[in-house]
Amino acid sequence: MTHRRDKQRTKIAVFGAGYVGLTTAVLLACAGYKVSLVETNDERLSVLKSGKSFFYEEGIDNLLAEGIKNKSIELTNRADEGMRDAGVLFSCVGTPDKPDGSTNLQYVFDVAKSAAKQAISGAVFVQKSTVPVGTGDKIEKIFSESGNKLKYVSNPEFLREGTAIIDSLWPDRVVVGGNDSTATEKILDIYRTIDSQRDDLAKRAGLAPRTNVISRSIKTGLNSAELIKVTSNAFLALKISFANSIAKLADQANADISEVMDAVGADSRIARSFLNAGRGYGGGCFPKDVSGLISSAEEYGVDMPLLVAATDINDSMPRYIAKKLEGALGTLKNKNVTVLGLAFKAGTSDARKSPGVAIANIIAAAGGVVVAYDPYALKEAKKDIVRGVSLEFSLEKAVVGAEAIIVATDWPEFLEYNLSVLAKSMSGSLFIDAVNAFDPDMVRRAGMQYLGVGRR
Ligand code: UGA
Repeated sequence: MTHRRDKQRTKIAVFGAGYVGLTTAVLLACAGYKVSLVETNDERLSVLKSGKSFFYEEGIDNLLAEGIKNKSIELTNRADEGMRDAGVLFSCVGTPDKPDGSTNLQYVFDVAKSAAKQAISGAVFVQKSTVPVGTGDKIEKIFSESGNKLKYVSNPEFLREGTAIIDSLWPDRVVVGGNDSTATEKILDIYRTIDSQRDDLAKRAGLAPRTNVISRSIKTGLNSAELIKVTSNAFLALKISFANSIAKLADQANADISEVMDAVGADSRIARSFLNAGRGYGGGCFPKDVSGLISSAEEYGVDMPLLVAATDINDSMPRYIAKKLEGALGTLKNKNVTVLGLAFKAGTSDARKSPGVAIANIIAAAGGVVVAYDPYALKEAKKDIVRGVSLEFSLEKAVVGAEAIIVATDWPEFLEYNLSVLAKSMSGSLFIDAVNAFDPDMVRRAGMQYLGVGRR
């Protein structure tokens, strides 16, 4: 009953319709809240108004269309409209990296300043964008100087692209940090409301519910909450780079990284996830959050040598893959190479800082004739692709005549493709599995030469 009353009372404004903002907004709207989603990019806004997301994320369109149909979600480009009568404001705007690796907080402060001016007094301002530690203190100062009694809560987001809805419905943990316990409780109450409907919400999104997840709510201090988010991402990035550095050794020592990590990860103190070696991590989070943490630590006079090493190892991986190719073909010049996978991982159309794009560009720069294909990310990858890489719109066409194939994203479409058909379409026989997702014996049985990353 408390939840129902709370829903009727609270209008929620969400700022920014990216992965975090749109997921948050549609879940709140479908859980019964009245939501105003503020997106200042008009092109994106008009796509959203048609009931579709402007990026590929499974299940999100179903919930968006439902919210628009039953008028529980309102889409606007005006912050003042969004904030009108809103008792809770979720800030989910982008925090891109600057060329020096530090975080660009312009959008975060823009939203905070307009909330200080226009939000109703006493509303709760929830920071979901990933910000450097200390940002909340600065925003609280803006609020107190403005005279608005807004309350600030840090509520970092842990959803992954590709599984955004399910991760939000079944999070490992919900972290809220702040100086006002009524405000943090209010936010936890909103999460309880969503939690009480999670099976139904998953169903309405068209997704299978997750089982065996125990979600924990964790209340912390404000600065700890900010640090928890970037520390989690940095630690996962460390795990991947650690696995990649051992994979390089496995390549030289005739060991197999998958065998090694299966056994290392069987130690519950270490755990197996995020120890998959391959072409390295990409996307809008790990590269930016690691460099942002290094740079924000610098401002506090603290060095982060482990994270510098993780970044260096990661940056080396696309070139390492290209070197493998060159080693096997003798040269890259005029070689017909097909790169499969431009999304930074499967399940998303996001191609930001994508290792597949980097691999294609490196080979083209070395004189290779590169064809690239991705089932969802071609449009988003296009702006980062150099001349010399041509994009193909079907897998069948992309592999015709290839002397070598590199798989850079583990899309099901690639994993399920008939390997004998693939081998026959090629003019050569080199198959580089840059995501270590194929069974080497199956590739060999189809008549191709298999090379993975750190695999025997
Ligand atoms: C990451 C975190 O996992 C989320 O918890 C967090 O909320 C999000 O960043 C964020 O800060 O917003 P995401 O970037 O969507 O999520 O993707 P991940 O599934 O974490 O993968 C990141 C990259 O690491 C991908 O390129 C993936 O291919 C690579 N990866 C992952 C590996 O190379 N090896 C692995 O073992 C796992």
